[in-house]
Amino acid sequence: DRQQGAGTVGLEHLGVRPRRLRTSPAMRRMVAEYRLHPAELILPAFVREGIGEPVPVSSMPGVVQHTRDSLRKAAAEAAEAGLGGIMLFGVPLEKDACGTAGTDPEGILQVAIRDVRAEVGDDLVVMSDLCLDEFTDHGHCGVLDAAGRVENDATLERYAEMARVQAEAGVHVVGPSGMMDGQVKVVREALDGAGYQDVSILAYTAKYASAFFGPFREAVDSSLKGDRKTYQQDPANARESLRELALDLAEGADIVMVKPALPYLDVLRRVADAVDVPVAAYQVSGEYAMVEAAAANGWIERDRTIMETLTGAKRAGANMILTYWAVEAAQRLARGE
Ligand code: PBG
Repeated sequence: DRQQGAGTVGLEHLGVRPRRLRTSPAMRRMVAEYRLHPAELILPAFVREGIGEPVPVSSMPGVVQHTRDSLRKAAAEAAEAGLGGIMLFGVPLEKDACGTAGTDPEGILQVAIRDVRAEVGDDLVVMSDLCLDEFTDHGHCGVLDAAGRVENDATLERYAEMARVQAEAGVHVVGPSGMMDGQVKVVREALDGAGYQDVSILAYTAKYASAFFGPFREAVDSSLKGDRKTYQQDPANARESLRELALDLAEGADIVMVKPALPYLDVLRRVADAVDVPVAAYQVSGEYAMVEAAAANGWIERDRTIMETLTGAKRAGANMILTYWAVEAAQRLARGE
């Protein structure tokens, strides 16, 4: 009887049922709008001068400060897993006010770039952090003026020098991450002026003064006191990122990045919608630590959570993702999980 009541009649006419496309793993796989691939994952890696064994980073379970040797092995493993790239951070023995080790051709980061290139050749895109904070004794991303403020233009000269030595060491991509005004411009000019037209720039376009960088400070033995609020962006701003984006593109950025990822997926989407260059997202140390800590307590399903955060960044517009889980995520994807 078709006249049993309005509710029943309504249900009889429920011809549109989105759940039909969720009925089986095969069906869900077929209709998936976004798919992760190992080639778009990039592994950030730390290498520390003067250690004989890898040193675990306690706030990032599973992450270590590498020796030169263990870094080479990690790079080989990353290439084997089909990753897109590796992003290198150096931890020097000696730090000083202007971050001398960062521009020393024999500095740990330059040595590591050469080691990794010797190991992987062109099979993996080799990237390096182009910033002073790992090398300065005060821990800031630039040099300071007499009043202790980070001096923009003097810092740019240091970045130009860093770009040259990193390119000389054989890096494919430099990642200026200090959030100084004009950093992409001076790095591009320095590279071109030294004959490195083919070295690309991954610009840290939208980088926020974030509490999520906390564990990274341990990873690079940072001596920073205070904060980076006069150069990194205020978490309260989104439109400002589009201004940073316009500048980076005009200055010659090849790839633009938003960082952190999870708390800034809206910014990632806005940036992705605005550009025709590849967009990267950096899933930072705090995002990693948060998931690992919750999982260790049994409060969250670790593997599913990891893949969900990566998928979220992809859905928000990232073409590539820097993540400390890059190798294990790539291996999981290769197994079809
Ligand atoms: C600066 C730099 C930082 C990170 C990457 N590059 C630290 C900062 O800006 O304070 C953070 C990465 C992470 O938290 O995983 N060289």
